Amino acid sequence: MSDLYYGGVIILDFGSQYTQLIARRIREQNVYSQIVSPSIPLEKILKHKPKAIIFSGGPSSIYSENAPKFDDRILTQKIPILGICYGLHLLVQNSGGRVESSQQGEYGLAEVNVKISDSIFKDLPSSIKVWMSHGDKVMKTPPGWNVLAFSSNDVIAALSNSSNTKFATQFHPEVYHTNMGNLILRNFLFNISGCIPNWNSKNFVDEKLKEIKSKVKDNNVIVGVSGGVDSSVVAALMHKAVGVQSKAIIIDHGLMRKNEAKRCVEELKKGLGINISLHDEKKYFLKKLKGITDPEEKRKIIGNQFIYSFQRISKNFGNVPFLAQGTLYPDVIESGVSHGKEAALIKSHHNVGGLPDDMDFKLIEPLRDLFKDEVRDLAKELEIPDFLIGRHPFPGPGLGVRIIGEITNERIKILQEADQIFIDVLYEDGLYNKIWQAFAVLIPVKTVGVMGDQRTYDNLLGIRAVNSTDGMTADWYRIPEDSLNKISNRIVNHVKGVNRIVYDITSKPPGTIEWE
Ligand code: XMP
Repeated sequence: MSDLYYGGVIILDFGSQYTQLIARRIREQNVYSQIVSPSIPLEKILKHKPKAIIFSGGPSSIYSENAPKFDDRILTQKIPILGICYGLHLLVQNSGGRVESSQQGEYGLAEVNVKISDSIFKDLPSSIKVWMSHGDKVMKTPPGWNVLAFSSNDVIAALSNSSNTKFATQFHPEVYHTNMGNLILRNFLFNISGCIPNWNSKNFVDEKLKEIKSKVKDNNVIVGVSGGVDSSVVAALMHKAVGVQSKAIIIDHGLMRKNEAKRCVEELKKGLGINISLHDEKKYFLKKLKGITDPEEKRKIIGNQFIYSFQRISKNFGNVPFLAQGTLYPDVIESGVSHGKEAALIKSHHNVGGLPDDMDFKLIEPLRDLFKDEVRDLAKELEIPDFLIGRHPFPGPGLGVRIIGEITNERIKILQEADQIFIDVLYEDGLYNKIWQAFAVLIPVKTVGVMGDQRTYDNLLGIRAVNSTDGMTADWYRIPEDSLNKISNRIVNHVKGVNRIVYDITSKPPGTIEWE
């Protein structure tokens, strides 16, 4: 592991809904952070040479039968530890204190009064607003520990051991509602732990270029490019690292947006000057997808066929042992293969969960540790043109996960036409760049309508627009009424086969951004 990853923070994930947020908040301070399984052995942690360790919160009570355990040898190290919520309970219990379930938990905004302000509360006011979410609470502090703050309900809100190497907060400093949370984390990272703020785009690029060169040597690599910002960044990195040995490939699986494939190739050639070619593979994908309606099955078929197509196409370039692709951290997490907890499978992101077992390539995934907004920063560092950086994300399986039910040529055409109109209106009305991602979805339902005094019985189309920073959570975007009206009228009047439009007003969670 390179120096860039040393000097950072290891986060033991006890299952909190906020664990990703902890990782992000730390990286926002230019410190590398990595989420790991709570049961990781000490030896593995030490390999990362962390400057600090964080115990996340979690849904369990430390007294419940299935409460996640950790390697308690961690506590004998000199590395500073911050325990948050469930992490606090673990630290207190393991240091000789007592935690009890309380009748009355604290959930939501709370006020905390700081008693000792020279460590994690340095430079903070004596009263702060924080985000609480707990049932259990500390009844007895461990011997030699100091209470740093109480909540207005007299619950111990923060404490530390006498040598200032272990800290614990009952509240969540990583949540935005804790208004001084960043300052608390900064105190812990820099004043207490001596973390190194070397996690920035420039260092990341330098490090990745070195890593790629030493891995690829004089071999060839193909880069799977979709036209979105992630794979464009990978193509740019590979081009910088190994020049003509890197062959960028766009596969037209027949599930691209209207005219997307050609436009992507032109933009990438013009914008990045990279070696890129377009390959029409529609017939292979569409044949295998015939009659398939199950979302996970579709994803697996598309993911596998990508690899089979890459394998066949790569033969044109001689021996190609490597495939580079733009897998991101959220793809890894949501595909249930995170280095953290046994994460639930939400969906098999095509470049993570959908790979065939008999794949010949060794994978290169330089963005596997990054969130989307970090990739956009990287794109700026690599001077990728704005029009590529600003593009809405587009999933690898393309319209395949936006055509609910069976994928047929006719249904692809309907969706492509409708989607194009939707996006055109967003541009016309100055909305495209205010929205993180927008698209249309073809729903396998027909409804009755009336057009020109005639009865129609046609397809239902959904439109979706969301704002997000990393795709992990999202809020539906409030498109102004006039624009909605324009979108609806124009689609119904111009796209044969659609007679009704619905607007998706579901956030993530509970929805996901894509419908499948
Ligand atoms: P979901 O639907 O999981 O989407 O809320 C989160 C973000 O990820 C994109 N997405 C994918 N991207 N391969 C990708 O490259 C995939 O299989 C995939 N599935 C979803 C989605 O468009 C959104 O931006």
